[in-house]
Amino acid sequence: MKKSAQKARIRTFIIANWKMNPATHVDAKKLATKSKSLGKGLKKTTLVACPPFPFLSDVVAPHTKGYAYGAQDVSLHASGSHTGDVAASQIVSLKASYVIVGHSERRAKGESDVEVATKVRVALSVGLTPIVCVGERERDDEARYLLTLREQIHASLEGVSPRDFGKIIIAYEPVWAIGGDTANTPDDTVETILFIRKTLMELTSEKTALSIPMLYGGSVDDTNAAGFLAKDEINGLLIGRASRDPKKLARIIEASEKRNSQIKKTKIR
Ligand code: PGA
Repeated sequence: MKKSAQKARIRTFIIANWKMNPATHVDAKKLATKSKSLGKGLKKTTLVACPPFPFLSDVVAPHTKGYAYGAQDVSLHASGSHTGDVAASQIVSLKASYVIVGHSERRAKGESDVEVATKVRVALSVGLTPIVCVGERERDDEARYLLTLREQIHASLEGVSPRDFGKIIIAYEPVWAIGGDTANTPDDTVETILFIRKTLMELTSEKTALSIPMLYGGSVDDTNAAGFLAKDEINGLLIGRASRDPKKLARIIEASEKRNSQIKKTKIR
């Protein structure tokens, strides 16, 4: 592969995945207000608040570079009789810009790669940016998990047109690191992210693959975020628990604003 010293600047994404929290609308409004104020005036970071559907309207605010919002899932269907589903167009009608797709907690409930790919295409068709979650369940010493990861990426992005690849975000979330107390290491995350970028180059052009923001998620908090953000190859973080604590989130955003994120083409072998 051609090596180039050229570096592309990219904003750092901090995705706040509230999951099925908080318990009440009152608390959701408080968290939404805090999140909006944390997103004010950010220079290098985009904070994306992703609440449960009933609270989506609470995070609505005018678009700025520092603050955006999105959903945690989307229906496979554009419209029709699908009780309990929420259509991509309904999410867009609140002027949301993002949607998390293929989170491991949804995959664990039976969501297949085929369904993930359909949701990615549905999101793109209405102009939503899909944050596509990929990650291995467990590690093996022979690194076979990388082959599983490659297969998952191919299948989860099946049918996405090469030019649309430039509109997606990838969140690398090793399943074993989510919701526990042990995050992956920043060095190992960089290795895997480089592998994911190489895999993306099998599906789209090198230029487009290099432009896709690559995030890490899994037990990130205010004590370890800076370690990940010190790596140029990691373009942001998808955060569960710590994103619901405004003090922790503020410290993570502060670390993000202090960094100078670039994609180093030279590091991709
Ligand atoms: P966590 O969740 O930060 O609580 O581990 C991460 C995630 O939602 O993917």
